[in-house]
Amino acid sequence: MTQQRTALISGSAGFIGYYLGQRLLADGFRVIGVDSLSDYYDPNLKRRRQANLLQNAGFSAVNEPIETPGLLADLFAEHRPDIVVHLAAQAGVRYSIDNPRSYLESNLVGTFELLEAARAHPPQHMLLASTSSAYGANTEMPYRETMKADHQMSFYAATKKATEAMAHSYAHLFDLPVTMFRFFTVYGPWGRPDMALFKFTRAMLAGEAIDVYNHGEMMRDFTYVEDLVEAIRRLIDAAPIRPESAEDIAEGDSLSPVAPWRVVNIGNSKPVQLGDMIAAIEDALGMEAKRNLMPMQPGDVPATWADAELLRALTGYVPETDIREGVRRFVAWYRDYYQV
Ligand SMILES: NC(=O)c1ccc[n+]([C@@H]2O[C@H](COP(=O)([O-])OP(=O)(O)OC[C@H]3O[C@@H](n4cnc5c(N)ncnc54)[C@H](O)[C@@H]3O)[C@@H](O)[C@H]2O)c1
Repeated sequence: MTQQRTALISGSAGFIGYYLGQRLLADGFRVIGVDSLSDYYDPNLKRRRQANLLQNAGFSAVNEPIETPGLLADLFAEHRPDIVVHLAAQAGVRYSIDNPRSYLESNLVGTFELLEAARAHPPQHMLLASTSSAYGANTEMPYRETMKADHQMSFYAATKKATEAMAHSYAHLFDLPVTMFRFFTVYGPWGRPDMALFKFTRAMLAGEAIDVYNHGEMMRDFTYVEDLVEAIRRLIDAAPIRPESAEDIAEGDSLSPVAPWRVVNIGNSKPVQLGDMIAAIEDALGMEAKRNLMPMQPGDVPATWADAELLRALTGYVPETDIREGVRRFVAWYRDYYQV
């Protein structure tokens, strides 16, 4: 019999953490979930997700902020996780303009606490969430991990890019295998109330107009949450190995020449126009949206598009759920959950 592996997931009551927790429990992991249940959006939704995870005896929850000094170090000492997936963060591009300190604390101090804990009690593999926003002002598409990404346009993106560098230094110095994910607009049932799909669905059902930024001239590489989790699951078993020399790094691989560290896009590689996403909601709801055409929001980027070839090379998998199908599943969940 193989020994049961322990995974520590930060942000386990969040949208992605909830799905990943379920998946790892189903795969036989023992899961420690850390989440502050922050009030950035409705904490009841987070509590409901966590209550579902707690139905499984293999799951235990710690509801504290990760930046609490020593909290993660104590948890690592007690549970010695084999795998760590770091999803806890203050997310959201727009909120970061008025509330930068929250990003500093959760994203930078929180990630520092995690890295220190891992230094003391090294897991087999640490996987940390970064974002497609890290590509910032890059206009060459699709985005490849080997491209320079030096011009972040929001403090959110800047903190995420900084965590990539922080984790790289620990990977280099302490031989910690690290995979950084750059996620592309994740959506699906149990999704985030601050994101467009959720906001549009809520407004349309309330008979209100939806705010369409950049007059609808927006393109996003939408990634269905279960596809994303499949990619994460496969990447867990694809820990980077420090190369002997730079010549050993395959073409297109973002593997560091000096550390067991790489960054991997997780996206469909099929960008969708905002208008087509709205049309998918209209179809699923059987009603037409009233649109408020608005200018571009500060800090936002007009388009994202993942090159998913590195993900394919490492895992043999690329997300594929079609936006219409994914939106249908989200709308069905929303109506059931909110009884509207
Ligand atoms: N959803 C997306 O489209 C997307 C895209 C790119 C990157 N990401 C990143 O993926 C990760 C997960 O995103 P999500 O969509 O599930 O967001 P989410 O907000 O639903 O989940 C994050 C969870 O972390 C918790 N949290 C926040 N700050 C914390 C702190 N200081 N201590 C402990 N817990 C804390 C929150 O309570 C929340 O439950 C985040 O790091 C986010 O930046 C998400």
